Formats: sequence, structure tokens, C-alpha cells
Amino acid sequence: MNIKKNIGLYEIAVLLFGTSSSFLIYLSLKQYLKLRRYRHIPHPKTYGLFRFFTGNLHELQAYKDDIGFSGLTLNWFKDLGPVFKAYFFGEIIVSVNGPEAVKKVLIDLDLHKSEIPYKIMAFPFNERALGTGLTTEIDKEKWKPVRALFNHAFQRNILKTFFDDFNEKSNLLMEKLRSKPDGKTLVTMFPELNKFALDIISSVAFGFNNDSINQSENYLNKLIINLLHGINELLIDPLIQLKPNKFKMVNEFKKSLRELREFSREHINQRIRDLENKEHVPNDILTIIIKNYGGDTFDLDDLIDQFLTFFIAGQETTANSLAFAILELGHLANLEYTSCVFNETLRKWPPLPEFTRKTYKEIEINGIKIPENTWIMCSPYISGHNPEYFPPSQLNLTDIFNLYQSHPEEFKPERFLKSSEFSQKNMINSYTFFPFSLGPRNCIGQNFAKIEAKIFLAKFAQNFDIHLDENQSYGLKEVITLRPKDGCRVYLTQRNF
Ligand code: HEM
Repeated sequence: MNIKKNIGLYEIAVLLFGTSSSFLIYLSLKQYLKLRRYRHIPHPKTYGLFRFFTGNLHELQAYKDDIGFSGLTLNWFKDLGPVFKAYFFGEIIVSVNGPEAVKKVLIDLDLHKSEIPYKIMAFPFNERALGTGLTTEIDKEKWKPVRALFNHAFQRNILKTFFDDFNEKSNLLMEKLRSKPDGKTLVTMFPELNKFALDIISSVAFGFNNDSINQSENYLNKLIINLLHGINELLIDPLIQLKPNKFKMVNEFKKSLRELREFSREHINQRIRDLENKEHVPNDILTIIIKNYGGDTFDLDDLIDQFLTFFIAGQETTANSLAFAILELGHLANLEYTSCVFNETLRKWPPLPEFTRKTYKEIEINGIKIPENTWIMCSPYISGHNPEYFPPSQLNLTDIFNLYQSHPEEFKPERFLKSSEFSQKNMINSYTFFPFSLGPRNCIGQNFAKIEAKIFLAKFAQNFDIHLDENQSYGLKEVITLRPKDGCRVYLTQRNF
């Protein structure tokens, strides 16, 4: 009896060992064959005990709170040249750089978006978030008519009719900041800018006064922060749902998401009713969308996807870039050309530092063949930090070796003046400076962001002198977007004219 039992246990152990070894061999073989297809593409060294599987994950984790993924890829670019690969478990990403590569990927071939990051934003934790909204819709045929509809709403002449709203929200923020202009009170700008960007989107795009600027905690702002936090966490760690210490965060996320969708549903329904009853409604982006979206047959959930998409896409990106602009202005002392300052901020700190596409057939870039079904990464961050196009002023432009030694790059808004040496030599062009991406899937909100940023920066510079808190880290925080890690901490002094 005992012998039988012992043999049973032994057999089970052998079976378990055999199964897991076969599984490991299968995984190793699969990984080996996958990597073999890419072995001709240069790649950075991998570290860690399980590096064959984890690839470059070790370095990413080591640098994520310092130079971030963007800084890491910039270093790889400097070491490996314009085309290189990195991999994280089974996912291989090929970074392609240089004007020809950017033109080929984003415009000539017009490659599809790659599924994974966008699917996570669309349906995180199996809940509908951005769903089939404009940013996350991968299917080109479904995306095209919707984009055409939105293009109309985001034209410069339509946006100009909302100048009063942009001005009003900027004035409100100035008023709030003016209450602490003693040069001694520490102000963390990022949360203020985040609320400012939210209030502008709410009012210009969706015709309601959110007024978060004047509230210490705002309902909508809190829901959106929870939503972004959950998506960020899931992007870093796809197994997060299985971790008991994260259950609370995941539940909080789901609750916020449902409330956010319910809030959107009520707001949209109200507008539909007002339109049906011929009530006076603002001629804002929501009205334009409802009037044109799929005739009478639109699905309300699709509209909610769009509503959330614009809140998410339009808020953090602009708030982050304004926070970076203020950090740079603290060193710069004055702000002569607002649009040059904004461009230079986007050059040095693009809020979306890289974006991905997917090859549907083998392509060749810089003589390197990239297989079909590969994630391709285009990086405005790497391009913006390439001294070949954006050299520091004191160096000889032809001295490429010296250019690559320069660090950190200067913040030099004048380079964006049309009369500058860099513009004249066509070093700054659409393929070297593309913070809003290029081609059909570029940023639809770029005019919106430019108007918002210019109005804010001009008013801010008129009103305040800035002194940066020396104790902040100046590190980067990056997952979906890039932002100053410590939120841009400043002391403000009221300017006297
Ligand atoms: C400084 C501010 C901004 C920057 C740097 C920025 C950057 C970008 C980039 C790089 C993309 C392409 C992403 C990709 O290919 O995956 C994009 C797409 C998009 N952006 Fe922006 N954005 C900004 C502000 C805004 C604003 C204010 C709005 C809305 C009011 C907005 C709405 C969108 C939408 C809806 C898309 C998806 C477009 C499509 O796929 O058709 N963005 N943005």
C-alpha cells in the first residue's frame, strides 16, 4: 500500500518536472526562433538572471524613475545608431530614427497602430474605457469617417470662436496664483495646470463649467486621475490584477471608470434632449459631434468613448508641457516668443515621447530589413535630442563628434524663429520635430493645445517672476506621457510694471 503511494507521488513529481521542463524548452525555443529573425538588428546589452526572457526589462526598471524609457532609448540610439531593437519578454520593439525613417513609417507607408498599448487604454481590466474612441480605434476603415468628422470641429477658425473660454480659464488660474505671490510660498504647478487643462476641455469641447481651478479637490479631476493611474499601472505590469496588494487600486479604478462613463452618459443625454427640444445649446465640439455622428443611429457608448478620449488626450499632454515650460523658464528669466518657447519645450520634453506602429509586411530602413508584424517605434524625443538637428549654440555645426558629447542640451527657443540659422538650414522641419506625430493619425488637438499654451504662457510671464525650488529632483516620470517627476515646484513673485 505504502509502496504504491510512494510510487504515485514519485510519478506525479516526475510528471510535473517533465511537463514544466517541456514547457520551458518550448518557451525557450519559441523565444530563440523569434529573436533569430531579428538578430541582424543592433540591440543593447541585456542584464539579469533571466535576461534571455526578460530582455531589457532590467534596465527599464532601473531607469524608470530617473531618465525614463525615453532617456534610455536616447542612450541606446547614441550607442547603436538610427535603427535598433529592444525586447521585453516576447515583445520586440524596433526603434527607427532619422527624417527618412519618420517619413516612411508615418506618412509613406502609413502603418497601422500596434494593438497592445492601445488595447490596454481601450479596455483596461476588461472594462470599457476609451473603447473605440479616436485614439484607440485600430481599424483604419472605422477610424477614417470619425476622424473626418472631428477634423471639422478642430479647425483653427472654429477654435478661435472659443478664445473667450481660453482667456477666462487662464485669468482664473492667474487670479488663484496671484494669491500666493510672496516669493516664499512653494507652489506645485502640475496639479494647477492639470485642473486648468481639464477646465478648458470641459468648457470648450463639452460646454460645461467644471471650475476645478477653484476647488482643492474636484470630482471629475479625481476620477480622471484614478483612470490614468490604473491604465499606467496596467501598462507597466500586465499581471497586476493577480496581485492581492493591488486589489484595492484595481477596484478603485473600476469604480472611477464606471462613474466617469455615467457622468459622460448623463451629460451627452442632456445635450441630446436639449437639441431635440430646440433649447439653446453651446455650439461646441459636443454639439458638432452629436449632430453629425452616424446620423440617427449612433451608439451612445461610442459617443462616451469619444467624450473620454478627448478628456484624457487633451488634458495631461498640455498640462505636462506647460509644467516643463515653466521649469525651463525658471532658468531663462524671460519669455520673449511664446510660440518658440512652447515649441522648444515640446522639442526637449515631448509629452508623448514615442509612439508605435506595426509593419504589415517586411520593410527596409537604413538598409536594415525589419520583418512583418513588428512593433516600430518613432521617437520625437530621440529626434529632439539629436544634436545633428538641434545643436547647442556654442558649437561648430559641422563638428559632429563634439555635438554628440554635448549634454544636457540647451533650452534655446530662438532656434524656432524663422530667421534662425537652424531654420534657414532646414535642420528643423516636420521630420526632425514632430511632437504631434505626422500623417493621418497625427494629433487632432494640436491647434487646441497651441492656443491654450500660448495664452497661458503669455499671461503667466506677464504676471510672475519664477524662482525654482532647488530641492526638486528634475527627474522624469513617464509611462504613457512624460512629465516632471516632482510636479514643477516654484516660488512666484508678482511682476510690477
Ligand atoms: C502639447 C499637447 C499635445 C501633444 C504633444 C499631443 C501629441 C499627440 C500625438 C503624438 C498623437 C499621436 C499618437 C499616436 O500616434 O499614437 C496624438 C493624438 C491625438 N491627440 Fe494629441 N497631443 C496634445 C494635445 C491634445 C489635445 C489638447 C487634444 C484634444 C483636445 C488632443 C487629442 C488627440 C487625439 C484625439 C488623438 C488621436 C488622433 C487620431 O488617432 O486620429 N491632443 N496627440
